[in-house]
Amino acid sequence: MSGLDLQPTKLGNKEHWDDVYKGEIANFEEIGDEGEIWFGVESVEKMVSWVMENTPPSSDPFVLEVGSGNGTLILALLEKNYLAQNLAGIDYSADAVKLSKLVAAAKEADVVTFSACDFLYEDPPHLPHMDPTKTDVWDLLLDKGTYDAIALGNKDEQGHSPAIHYPSRAARLIRPGGFFLITSCNFTEEELKVNFISEATGFKHHSRIQHPTFTFGGKSGSVCCSVAFQKAN
Ligand SMILES: C[S@@+](CC[C@H](N)C(=O)[O-])C[C@H]1O[C@@H](n2cnc3c(N)ncnc32)[C@H](O)[C@@H]1O
Repeated sequence: MSGLDLQPTKLGNKEHWDDVYKGEIANFEEIGDEGEIWFGVESVEKMVSWVMENTPPSSDPFVLEVGSGNGTLILALLEKNYLAQNLAGIDYSADAVKLSKLVAAAKEADVVTFSACDFLYEDPPHLPHMDPTKTDVWDLLLDKGTYDAIALGNKDEQGHSPAIHYPSRAARLIRPGGFFLITSCNFTEEELKVNFISEATGFKHHSRIQHPTFTFGGKSGSVCCSVAFQKAN
């Protein structure tokens, strides 16, 4: 990707993402470039470390990335010996799904499932060995930049962002005791806690990932934050 485009109507819009991934597919087919990943490599590494510590490969967790883009994050887990059959990514851009499948095939990781799915309105397809009668089947949901993008979508007639639907959609898919790990550059840790922790979602704060900090005008902060929530048992 060419960088963070902060125009709200563009980032929150499916046509924008289709255009982005069409360009990246062309790059990939021409020069094998997988495209830039959102928020850079360190965020991926830090999220992968958190996943390894909290849902280790030995537990064969079912892991879903919401808004998986070119598939970098979920494919990084494969390199850490997670069971490929238990890993999945969804994206509402069919071109993102096409790109992630091309990238996976180049890494001989075709077994990882990438599907076109609008997270706010559809449930992701079940993987083999999942109980087909249940919806809350995932041990871990990952989000890197997708909640941010959704929050920039057009507001409804009541002035609500489409992101208000996100927390309940996430909670619906996670098994009791399972985790949701989110990395955001648009929301602070406190804002994420307010938006995700509620009786309705059953989410409790679990942990955070420390990102590099900066100090400006006497105040310190981070460019991005990553927060993990655990769903009540
Ligand atoms: C900022 S990008 C992040 C991509 C990837 N996670 C990364 O870090 O490189 C946001 C992604 O969310 C996807 N997306 C936005 N709204 C979505 C929705 N409602 N359902 C599924 N995917 C969505 C976009 O197509 C895009 O791939």
